[in-house]
Amino acid sequence: MRSLRHFLLLLFLVVVLVQACSTDEAPSAPPPRRENIVDGLDSLTGLIAQGDYRLVKGNCLACHSAKLITQNRATREGWLDMIHWMQETQGLPDLGKNEGPIVDYLATYYAPEETGRRPPLDSVEWYILSAAGGQSSAER
Ligand code: HEC
Repeated sequence: MRSLRHFLLLLFLVVVLVQACSTDEAPSAPPPRRENIVDGLDSLTGLIAQGDYRLVKGNCLACHSAKLITQNRATREGWLDMIHWMQETQGLPDLGKNEGPIVDYLATYYAPEETGRRPPLDSVEWYILSAAGGQSSAER
């Protein structure tokens, strides 16, 4: 009787131990991989972690790295052109209802960059300088 109780106690301990290990190491359904965002960028891809970036992760990285995307800048039309080019020549499938959100994301976060120069002046009322003394020496 005593040995049976010892056996049951041991069995209980083993079960508890196995349980404790297995819940930590091998959950039956792995949780979705934690998103890791560093300085606003998705750490895995470098994509700006805003808007529908997950759609880009899911649809655009099968053939090339995200670098090709993150180093590009384009307008909506430009991004659509690139997508259509890939569809016509590189086997990119139709993006269906995801195309709109993907292009929105790209055109928003990877829009043509400001070059640092001010835009050209376009509403300036020019006027003739008239310094006292008339024409400048260069015009004589
Ligand atoms: C079926 C494969 C495939 C998929 C999926 C794919 N691409 Fe591409 N993409 C290519 C190939 C091939 C190139 C040319 C690579 C090269 O020039 O080295 C390319 C090039 C590009 C370029 C560079 C274009 C240029 O003119 O420099 C961009 C930007 C790009 N892809 C964006 C995307 C985006 C955004 C998506 C998701 C909507 C996507 N790609 C999905 C195959 C693909």
